[in-house]
Amino acid sequence: AEELVLIQGLINDHIGLEGPLLPLLHAIQSAFGHIPATAHAPIAEALNITRAELHGVISFYHDFRDKPAGVHVIKLCRAEACQAMGGAAMSDAILAKLGLDWHQTTRDGRVTIEPVYCLGLCACAPAAMVDGKLKGRVTAATILAEVGA
Ligand code: FES
Repeated sequence: AEELVLIQGLINDHIGLEGPLLPLLHAIQSAFGHIPATAHAPIAEALNITRAELHGVISFYHDFRDKPAGVHVIKLCRAEACQAMGGAAMSDAILAKLGLDWHQTTRDGRVTIEPVYCLGLCACAPAAMVDGKLKGRVTAATILAEVGA
């Protein structure tokens, strides 16, 4: 119930904006770390959109999560320079080891894997970001060791 009050407050704060949906979703995600399912009905109602439309927007923008992220968030660069330095094989190895696909979180809630498209570390490819810290010349082993996997 407290959650709904907070959600309603955020809706009220954003409803007057032109194009309120994306700023509202960002605000909800920064408050909760994800977009809780309980927020869907009030948002759809307030913005006069269907829940299917809302769901479409949330899943289209991969910045939005429908579940909380893992304890550790690994972002693996999938842009060109990193791909040229073995980034794809490294990503495949990490995903396989954790049993995940992109944007997923391990069952124990420890690790979330996300793609990014250039971290500005092309000279140190392949690059990654682990819990907000940039890492260059990474390998599957060093990344997995960072998160204790
Ligand atoms: Fe990966 Fe630039 S391409 S950091």
